[in-house]
Amino acid sequence: GLPARVRIHEVGARDGLQNEKTTVPTAVKAEFIHRLAAAGLGTIEATSFVHPKWVPQLADAAELMPLLADVDAHLPVLVPNERGLDRALALGVTEIAVFGSATESFAKANLNRTVDESLAMFEPVVARAREAGATVRGYLSMCFGDPWEGPVPVEQVAAVARRLYDLGCTELSLGDTIGVATPGHVTALLAALVEQGVPTDRLAVHFHDTYGQALSNTLAALQRGVTVVDASAGGLGGCPYAKSATGNLATEDLVWMLNGLGIDTGVDLDRLTATSVWMAEQLGRPSPSRTVRALSHQ
Ligand code: HMG
Ligand code: MG
Repeated sequence: GLPARVRIHEVGARDGLQNEKTTVPTAVKAEFIHRLAAAGLGTIEATSFVHPKWVPQLADAAELMPLLADVDAHLPVLVPNERGLDRALALGVTEIAVFGSATESFAKANLNRTVDESLAMFEPVVARAREAGATVRGYLSMCFGDPWEGPVPVEQVAAVARRLYDLGCTELSLGDTIGVATPGHVTALLAALVEQGVPTDRLAVHFHDTYGQALSNTLAALQRGVTVVDASAGGLGGCPYAKSATGNLATEDLVWMLNGLGIDTGVDLDRLTATSVWMAEQLGRPSPSRTVRALSHQ
């Protein structure tokens, strides 16, 4: 069966904006996040405390966070290492995410580490964050295919996921970084994770829509018991360190499907669409979301 309620983990301000060629002004980011919260999104990934040279689009993280003090939503941030954790904790952040890779190629490209080295880098981050009372999401990238290595075996993904979970992550998000997954593959990976002893109620799914499969993949995950879905307003997004990664599943497309299924999200689709239309104007290009285009008659 399908869940009665889905929690949307909004990633447009982070996964979306990290991939824009133009750097969005800090005040525009703050307004974007305020508007997303006003549209009913309860979890909004705000930014990343990564090396500013690796992701210059998010180099203003320390300036942005204080502008969000009055936002009524959970505001997790990405943190790759202890340096990032220190920067985030100093600003009062209480929800972080580390981000690992199921493949060696992407671990190297994204973190300048092997898979083992990156898990070793995360270990004190997760431990210290949990000690500080923070929640820790563990992203796992390249769960279905990798641009350098091709298809990734589900056993390989499940084994790294288990290691990430064992570090003490409170949630694991399964990333289809380059959008190549199809629903049968999703079902197979979720079964492999159950076999590895990772509880399905700790999982989220993170689909990029490169091949137009993100909604179908989401439905397959919901049918297997997943209730947390990552999406990006207006379909913003990608990853600068993975070629062929395009936008995330658009939050509007997701909400349209969930509304039709009678699944509650708490999101006001009209307000969200208006936000994405506004953001598209800021970026100077139309939203790729079919639902945004249909509802805004673009
Ligand atoms: P490195 O070059 O190996 O860094 O990068 P290092 O540890 O050797 O440190 C070098 C210098 O950087 C030092 O300064 C550090 O202090 C500084 P120095 O002593 O030379 O003056 N430094 C930092 N400064 C500020 N904040 C920090 C930080 N860390 C080190 N946090 C590193 C390693 C992990 C830092 C780098 O690779 C990095 O920042 N990577 C981030 C890449 C990224 O953000 N990618 C996008 C997010 S992942 C994604 O989008 C996928 C996802 O959406 C899921 C999916 O779709 O699959 C989540
Ligand atoms: Mg992503």
